[in-house]
Amino acid sequence: MVSYKELGLVNTKEMFAKAIKGGYAIPAFNFNNMEQLQAIIKAAAETKSPVILQVSKGARNYANQTLLRYMAQGAVEYAKELGWEKPQICLHLDHGDSFETCKSCVDFGFSSVMIDGSHLPYEENIALTKKVVEYAHAHDVTVEAELGVLAGVEDEVSAAESHYTKPEEVVDFATRTGCDSLAISIGTSHGAYKFTREQCTVDPQTGKLVPPPLAFNILDAIMEQLPGFPIVLHGSSSVPQEYVDIINQYGGKLPDAVGIPEEQLRKAAESAVCKINIDSDSRLAFTAAVRKVFAEKPGEFDPRKYCGPARDLMTELYKHKIINVLGSNGKAE
Ligand code: G3H
Ligand code: 13P
Ligand code: ZN
Repeated sequence: MVSYKELGLVNTKEMFAKAIKGGYAIPAFNFNNMEQLQAIIKAAAETKSPVILQVSKGARNYANQTLLRYMAQGAVEYAKELGWEKPQICLHLDHGDSFETCKSCVDFGFSSVMIDGSHLPYEENIALTKKVVEYAHAHDVTVEAELGVLAGVEDEVSAAESHYTKPEEVVDFATRTGCDSLAISIGTSHGAYKFTREQCTVDPQTGKLVPPPLAFNILDAIMEQLPGFPIVLHGSSSVPQEYVDIINQYGGKLPDAVGIPEEQLRKAAESAVCKINIDSDSRLAFTAAVRKVFAEKPGEFDPRKYCGPARDLMTELYKHKIINVLGSNGKAE
């Protein structure tokens, strides 16, 4: 049993309370490898932004949970080395799929866990979430739950259509589970293809796809039911066109990739939405940088020569999100 406190990590309680009051959101960036982690920490340290490091089931399978936790511990020390005296870094399990997984993360030094029972019948979601909350809270670990289903693929749970969160359920759910934050479904989805061509309109000037707006009316109704309660948005990558263009220019094939416009995320960040999850944009930045090096320098075979530029582009991306989209810069001085 290792407590996250010994590792210099923090849970989300204070981060979220401050973010709601201050009208900004905490970035929750997924990481699977050293370059992503270095870029996240550099961006957070340089902007003095609180940050949530997210580990998915896929990440645990890819990189090994033990290694990822030690990397997060190392990240705290790296942040200090970069001049960030009091780093506010949370290590969070993304889309936990069972009590056992959540428990193992709590026991292993995570400071926050998500239990994703969104695909379960309502009462089963409540029962599972409550069980995780009871265990996690006994160790001062915060718990994110989910109500409503995002379109696309939620880890291994496939949902062809999204089921928006029902505002009339949120008070009952939050009260009975005791969860610390709630992920909701208002039109975001995972991955780089968030909307089909049919769901979008086409900008007559640029020919680019314009996605439908998020359901802010549902968010407003949820906030009315649960004033001041921390809300989480998954699936919040914007799928920057510049990265998609670079990827496609250098041999990739990402037709009609489309994300959530940043103005909408900015608007959400000003509300009770205090955690915004971004993974796909980092994957796109990484891939764009690597493809460019491979295309321009076909003789290159030192991974540092293509992972280095990928890391630089991801750092730029994370800083942009922190400063221009979430507004969390300077909130962890
Ligand atoms: O929610 C999904 C995240 O982007 C993690 O994706 O399960 O492929 O690591 P992953
Ligand atoms: P994106 O695929 O939009 O980056 O969403 C990531 C996410 O929600 C992780 O839980
Ligand atoms: Zn997610």
